[in-house]
Amino acid sequence: MCGIVGYISKSGDRKSINVGIEALKRLEYRGYDSAGLAFWDESRQVICQKATGRISNLEKKMGGNGFLPLDPVILHTRWATHGNVSEANAHPHCDCTGNIFVVHNGIIENYVALREQLSQEGHKFRSETDTEIIAHLIEKCFNGNLEEAVRKSLGYLVGTYGLAVISSYDPDKIVAARLSSPLLIGLADDHFLLASDASAIISHTRKVVYLEDGEIAVINRDKFTIIREKKTEELDWPEYQSGKGSFSHYMLKEIMEQPGSVEQTIKGRLIPDEGNAKLGGLETVEKKLRQIDNIYIVGCGTSRHAGLLGEYMLEEYAGIRTKTEAASEFRYRKTLLDDSTALVAISQSGETADTLAAIREAGKRGALTLGITNVVGSTQARETDAGVYTRCGPEIGVASTKAFTSQVATLILLTLFLGRQRHLTITTGQRIVKDLLRMPEMLEAALQCDTQVKQLAEKYQAFDNFLYLGRKYSYPIAREGAHKIKETAYVHAEGCRGGEPKHCELALISDKFPSICIVPSDSVYEKMISNIEELKARNGPVIAIATEGNREIQNLADDVVYIPEAMELLTPILSIIPLQLFAYHFAVLRGADIDKPRNLAKSVTVE
Ligand code: G6P
Repeated sequence: MCGIVGYISKSGDRKSINVGIEALKRLEYRGYDSAGLAFWDESRQVICQKATGRISNLEKKMGGNGFLPLDPVILHTRWATHGNVSEANAHPHCDCTGNIFVVHNGIIENYVALREQLSQEGHKFRSETDTEIIAHLIEKCFNGNLEEAVRKSLGYLVGTYGLAVISSYDPDKIVAARLSSPLLIGLADDHFLLASDASAIISHTRKVVYLEDGEIAVINRDKFTIIREKKTEELDWPEYQSGKGSFSHYMLKEIMEQPGSVEQTIKGRLIPDEGNAKLGGLETVEKKLRQIDNIYIVGCGTSRHAGLLGEYMLEEYAGIRTKTEAASEFRYRKTLLDDSTALVAISQSGETADTLAAIREAGKRGALTLGITNVVGSTQARETDAGVYTRCGPEIGVASTKAFTSQVATLILLTLFLGRQRHLTITTGQRIVKDLLRMPEMLEAALQCDTQVKQLAEKYQAFDNFLYLGRKYSYPIAREGAHKIKETAYVHAEGCRGGEPKHCELALISDKFPSICIVPSDSVYEKMISNIEELKARNGPVIAIATEGNREIQNLADDVVYIPEAMELLTPILSIIPLQLFAYHFAVLRGADIDKPRNLAKSVTVE
């Protein structure tokens, strides 16, 4: 949600602010309602500056203010949890004396009690945040050594944190700590960078050390120290995928990237002759996977919709009982788990708090934990027993698009792998492999609908309600289509199973309430046609997403968008394309802030 950056150089330099702000901007997609920084000036005083709104506002504020900055510097971009959006609530927060500065991601759950106690002891608070208590706790515990004061303060906290601290009492160091909120140190030639996300520092170094939960890092000018020995990892992200290029928004760029991103997901992982998939990340648990007869898929938001598709395909093709649950529910309900159960966690970021909690809960209760994530070295990747990377490159748009299609492609690979361990025939496996190999080309064809979909968005732009309908493999697509337009354009939409409106949603339908029906030529096509008839009988306008070559549907629907023909379980990768584009163009027309949707964040690291 929020973003943290820290910078400290070997000799103390004046690049600190520029480098820090540039790194922070790469995190702006995670939290963007205010930003702030604290740094040394020439006279060895800590200066703190904050601004509401975008980081560019902070930059403007810094410009021409006459500071001669020196490092260390700590920076933060905020997504409000405790207290409204204001300069006072923006980070960094400081103690009573203005000598200790803290930036923090996460939530301190016992902050009310701590604030009361600290107030009674005479501490004066300037913000409504939970974070500020950390600065006052450090002040209380300080006895000449900053890391020792941080260590003692952490003992008071209940909740989650990734934090960075500087103090004029103990200069020339940044102290950082982590509990369930990611932090890593980037090792460049003449400086160290601290960040809550690797994307912030990738242009400086690919050598990183991830902090583990419960660890404190002391980053001095010439060295850093952490409690345990850490291994250096190489980030293998392709450089070309960063930046928005010529696109007006990351969301559109990422929609258009899907032929290439899905190609990366399947590349080198298919064995056409054997009708199988080769998944290196599952090799260590291959034998164990043969014993599995229950799968729980967990995820949040779009990742959960990919999971719903996984449920259909794993049952149909791998013959394994599968259930998908929202991670936020799974962590609290008493799901029956044993050692014949595998939990498959799906998360683009690999840092979603609810999904991580579900993994920990399932692991504790004896299940094998598998992860499908995009971010190499993320907490999910490190905490699961085994897993598969989606490899779709960094996704910046808050509305997830290319991560979704790569998650679905990964689930098809998993289905092939588990299916071929069981009863999936080589012939069916080969057919799936063949269609999957054609997917990049079919995605190119599906994207050709962009101009038509833009016109449809114009035609329907005055409507404030949409019903999305689909059956079987198209049902999760109806959910995801509705999710996309809600989060990007802020209109009401519902994603339903095609057979259900007669029990409720038909009551909503009129000429003022259009439906978007996903109706490919598959095993439930005829059933879905009957459901569309029910909408038309009530004067509901209908946009149909149908298979190329189906002319009959034009007699029924008001508008038809065609997608290429593919096997039923692969069709969702294609049918989501017009829905992503519709949400995008509709949101542009309605003036929404596409890459930074109202009230939402890219990576939700709080419960
Ligand atoms: C947030 C984002 C969604 C995303 C969800 C799960 O809510 O706004 O787009 O689907 O988090 O994120 P994850 O990184 O776990 O896939």
